[in-house]
Amino acid sequence: MTDFKSDLIRRTEEVEQTIYQWLPKEEGFQKNLIEAMNYSVTAGGKRLRPMLLQETARLFGYEGEDVPPFMAAIEIIHTYSLVHDDLPAMDNDDYRRGKLTTHKKYGHAQGILAGDALLNYAYEIGLKAVVKSSSPDRTAKALMVLSQKAGIYGMVGGQAVDVQYTDKPMEPEVLQFVHELKTGALIQAAMTAGALLAGAKEDEIEKIEKIALMTGLAFQIQDDILDVTSTMEILGKPVFSDEKNNKTTYVTILGLEGARQKVKEYSDSAVALLNKLNYKNEFLQNLLVSLIHREK
Ligand code: IPE
Ligand code: IPE
Ligand code: MG
Ligand code: MG
Ligand code: MG
Repeated sequence: MTDFKSDLIRRTEEVEQTIYQWLPKEEGFQKNLIEAMNYSVTAGGKRLRPMLLQETARLFGYEGEDVPPFMAAIEIIHTYSLVHDDLPAMDNDDYRRGKLTTHKKYGHAQGILAGDALLNYAYEIGLKAVVKSSSPDRTAKALMVLSQKAGIYGMVGGQAVDVQYTDKPMEPEVLQFVHELKTGALIQAAMTAGALLAGAKEDEIEKIEKIALMTGLAFQIQDDILDVTSTMEILGKPVFSDEKNNKTTYVTILGLEGARQKVKEYSDSAVALLNKLNYKNEFLQNLLVSLIHREK
């Protein structure tokens, strides 16, 4: 595991460098907007989604040149989701990734616009990769999945229901739906896009989708746990944000121990399914296992 930890640090830096290569130049009359975009992307973060995308492509033995732009695109979409999630109209949080949130630093209007611009820019990067690709069918399909999982059938859909139920009681099946969409979907997009770019077979893609969904559920439940057990210093974002916003979470429904049990169940199932595939990626396996015990 010590080896894994140092590997993880090194690979996170590599992923970060890849993403940075795709960031827009801060120039023109809209320079302030582009600065706000880059501020939010370069603030840090675990870079989990681009890492999962790359490692899933590697699982199927693929390292093609459409992988880096897709890594950038998914991290940029994820970052936009955080910029908007932190807005006063949503969770109203002042810190993210250890820094002031984008709207706190640049003002509400630029915060909203930076989110819009990040989303659009991610598709620009993805479409350029399709145009340049030597297998445009595969690349286009990966971009289609990314767009579906980011939108009404994914992250935005989940966020909408999350917000709709703020201050209201929420049935467990609605909470499950919200977690699947608001968080599970982008993790699915990451792993599925990696598999699609690699040209994985249909039954393999289906398995990857399941592994990713269970990973995403474990990830969001752990996020709910850390919201009540961690600190702002460790997380880089405020704790007790869910309580402040009167949200139903796995912790409010199952209690801390019940929620921890769920994280373990989902993570164990994800890893078990990964092990059934005919391909091996030890780092990816360790990465999924490490999410159970993650502290930030
Ligand atoms: C935070 O995602 C939002 C959730 C979906 C729980 P991460 O915990 O991956 O945030 P960063 O990218 O590391 O900042
Ligand atoms: C939001 O969930 C997930 C997103 C799609 C951004 P949270 O609201 O719990 O995420 P954090 O805790 O602010 O990172
Ligand atoms: Mg939220
Ligand atoms: Mg939030
Ligand atoms: Mg949270």
